[in-house]
Amino acid sequence: MQENREQWSSKTSFILAAAGSAVGLGNIWKFPYIAGENGGAAFLFIYLICIILIGLPILNIEILLGRTTKKNPVGAFVALSDSTFWKYVGVLGVFASFTILSFYSVVGGWSIAYTYEALIGTFNTTAFDNPSAAGKFFDLKNSSAAWVLGYHTLFLSLVVIILLSGVRAGLEKASKFLMPVLIFILLILVVQGLILPDANKGVSFLFQPDWSKINGQTILLALGHAFFTLSLGMGAMMTYGSYLSDKDDVVNASYLVAFLDTIIAIFAGLAIFTVVFSSGYDPTAGPGLVFHVLPPLLSDLVGGYIFAFLFFLLLSIAAITSGISILEVSVAYLVDEKNVPRKKAVLIMASLVYLAAIPCALSFNILSESTFDFQGKPFTFFDIADYLASNVLLPLGGLFLAIFAGYFWGIDDVIKNLLVGESNSIYFGNSIAKSKNFKSIFGFTVKYICPFLIFLVFLYSIGWI
Ligand code: TRP
Repeated sequence: MQENREQWSSKTSFILAAAGSAVGLGNIWKFPYIAGENGGAAFLFIYLICIILIGLPILNIEILLGRTTKKNPVGAFVALSDSTFWKYVGVLGVFASFTILSFYSVVGGWSIAYTYEALIGTFNTTAFDNPSAAGKFFDLKNSSAAWVLGYHTLFLSLVVIILLSGVRAGLEKASKFLMPVLIFILLILVVQGLILPDANKGVSFLFQPDWSKINGQTILLALGHAFFTLSLGMGAMMTYGSYLSDKDDVVNASYLVAFLDTIIAIFAGLAIFTVVFSSGYDPTAGPGLVFHVLPPLLSDLVGGYIFAFLFFLLLSIAAITSGISILEVSVAYLVDEKNVPRKKAVLIMASLVYLAAIPCALSFNILSESTFDFQGKPFTFFDIADYLASNVLLPLGGLFLAIFAGYFWGIDDVIKNLLVGESNSIYFGNSIAKSKNFKSIFGFTVKYICPFLIFLVFLYSIGWI
């Protein structure tokens, strides 16, 4: 173990940073539109079950692996197992970190671009009269490679600036400042949404399930999203966990992070659907919901200029605190395994991600015709990166994690390590890990339920079922 490895200054810092990683574009951009397309409340219900049944155990294991080994994903597996196979599972995580960030950084760039457009008042011009005009504006902007690349560069630069300062002065300070701002903005947007006429239609869309909407596909989509939204399956939570001290408990912290992530996704859904329904629009707008439908609707409200600006600021903050956690995985890998000094590691990995993201950024202009047929649909580089990460690499990473914990590390050892630091749980009064039946429920879930369900998602994702 490195003597001088940095640690979070407190458990609260870890929780804010981990929540910052979890709360991202997944909550504010993705969750509302996939819930919109898949029946609102019915989807929410299945998604909650996935978070509890699969998300929480895997989150516990990831953070625990990090805290126990004090290493990046590659080093963590190496520390606990002799087989090179597990080392490559860690390498898969480092590869996933590139893949995710290559498209994440493009969407993060759009968020910053729209924050700027909101600020200079573009949303109040005729270009944003209605969602279809706004869609045209979006396409027009994206047809310029320089525009997309420019904002992607800006986004990645912000991530780099934070990472260069290290764990405490960078990751921790950014999360401690940005997460409260994010929650504050979100609360303003929820309250303003709830007082709109017909807001109740948006609320019931999110809370009144229509069970006929649930099918195999909904379940698999919900499970895939549970992984993405909790930042699981590639070692991001493991890396954050590696900066925890053994005095800090894992189980209660995981519950809190998952709770914050879920409540923030629901609030984002409320903020968005109240506006959409109150304006009489369709909630099933797909990925364009946030960039096409919302700007004209938000800016039509009383005080719309400020609400539209706040919304995109919220989206940008969420993207940045997640982006740093994605890149940190590969940075920690270089620092721990190759002894590269931190600043140099940040610059090397950011340059590589920068290059990897170029085809994704050009997918909307120069390379828009370069598509690959997959399951009967044309996929651009951007689509491939998104699909590969969310539907293949993350579930695969999660599957290996569950198998590793359940069958190689062993549930007894997992529980023994989980109990370290548990007496210091400060948030729920007493420790969940020490409660009766925890071991049997946790063990059963990790050994049987997680591998089985994740394997199903994986088969479905690659088109085999
Ligand atoms: N959870 C983030 C979101 O919802 C994205 C994210 C950050 C992520 N780090 C990750 C996804 C690691 C998978 C793995 O937007």
